Amino acid sequence: MKRTKIKALLTSTAFGEEVVVKGWVRTKRENKEIAFIALNDGSIITNIQIVVDVANFNETILKQITTGAAISVTGKLIASGGKGQSVEIQATEIEVYGLADPEKYPLQPKEHSLEFLREIAHLRPRTNTFSAILRIRNTMAFGIHKFFNERGFVYLHTPILTASDCEGAGEMFRVTTLDPIKPPLTDVGTVNYKEDFFGRQANLTVSGQLEGELGAMALSEIYTFGPTFRAENSNTARHLAEFWMVEPEIAFADLEDNMNLAEDFLKYLIHEALENCQEDLAFLDQRFTKEESKKKQEDRSEWGLIEKLKIVLENNFERLTYTEAVKILVDSKPNKKGQFKYPISWGTDLQSEHERYLVEKHFKKPVILTNYPREIKSFYMKLDEDGKTVRAMDVLFPGIGEIIGGSQREEDLDKLVMRMKEVGLKEEDLWWYLDTRKFGTCPHSGFGLGFERLILFITGMGNIRDVIPFPRTPQNCEF
Ligand code: 4AD
Ligand code: MG
Repeated sequence: MKRTKIKALLTSTAFGEEVVVKGWVRTKRENKEIAFIALNDGSIITNIQIVVDVANFNETILKQITTGAAISVTGKLIASGGKGQSVEIQATEIEVYGLADPEKYPLQPKEHSLEFLREIAHLRPRTNTFSAILRIRNTMAFGIHKFFNERGFVYLHTPILTASDCEGAGEMFRVTTLDPIKPPLTDVGTVNYKEDFFGRQANLTVSGQLEGELGAMALSEIYTFGPTFRAENSNTARHLAEFWMVEPEIAFADLEDNMNLAEDFLKYLIHEALENCQEDLAFLDQRFTKEESKKKQEDRSEWGLIEKLKIVLENNFERLTYTEAVKILVDSKPNKKGQFKYPISWGTDLQSEHERYLVEKHFKKPVILTNYPREIKSFYMKLDEDGKTVRAMDVLFPGIGEIIGGSQREEDLDKLVMRMKEVGLKEEDLWWYLDTRKFGTCPHSGFGLGFERLILFITGMGNIRDVIPFPRTPQNCEF
């Protein structure tokens, strides 16, 4: 007989019919007459209850049914009398596929700390919290493709192996097949990358943008969505060494068009989550409230999780320049009382504490900051008329800080070459990128959304390591 997923059974009214469910045992409770098994197959956060008539059941099999075991249950679907569930299954036959020795199985039916669960990331998808996060992640990935597809964007696959440093920050993972102990050397004693696989130094990409721009200069509107790698040694709750980035690039578009696209995009995704992930969000909302109540009053979120999502959905994002934001920060109470860890003045990059002050305390809604000083932004951003700032934009979110970074691009060849020289990039290394400015250049813009930062926001989790199945961070590449 064909198996039915638990999600479908929970809303079924085919009472009396025989069904087959397969999944992993969450808990078993029993007395002399009757046993209750809570079974989950990952299709939905709710377990289905299996009722077993102990007297008529094989004792050995019943013993094998412990937390974590994989089983198949054949039985009759019946309306449930129990609280909080609509249906249950009266089992007629149970097959045990895989045992889970209760002495050794690490996931017990009790609350485990997130730190402990990170050590068993191979098993944590079997918990309510992580299965909810992974389903939401899936819905968001699908939503991203849907959003761009509905608008005629072309999904462009940009390379993961590259020889260029898009962000110019130099935080790249090198890719090589050279012998690490005895690499070939040049006459002056440096490693001879001419003998390496690609005949030159190669690395994992930090962004698909440069190739994305090449696509936009032909297809008008493209997006990339793939893994991105940064070897920044920052052990924070917002950084991963491997993360996923969504990067749209739009031709014939300025910074204003770019901001509009970013705002529409984020709202669309939040709407998708509220529409399609109701059970999981309800669970995470409760979890969020519980976690917040453990914090000090001043650190607590102003809003509940679902409330926060709705606030973002229903409010226009506040748009202001970096210069205006710095003024607000300089005049702010925490700055005057010396409560910021990092000093703030025009020209310095904003720290997460500054971004969060603007979003959570000052404006109480998402903020888009524009026109940053050129010195703190990438070479490809379009210079403003004053020559001091560039047409950059960062979207800042409550509880997260920067969720999107983007800009209008410098389409003028001479200015772009000048900026490259300033930051020490060689023209010959990016000749193909510069060609777009030589042949049919046009105003264009784009941005990058950190996929895991989005998932952090939607799920209300506090640490980015908990919203990707297998996190990679400094000193951590298990699984
Ligand atoms: O601001 P970033 O560095 O921008 C770019 O890479 C541009 N090339 C994007 C573009 O214009 N096409 O990164 C974009 C976003 C950030 O706003 C942040 O959400 C996320 O990527 N991000 C990270 N997420 C997790 N771990 C890290 N180490 C991240 N670094 C950036
Ligand atoms: Mg950025």
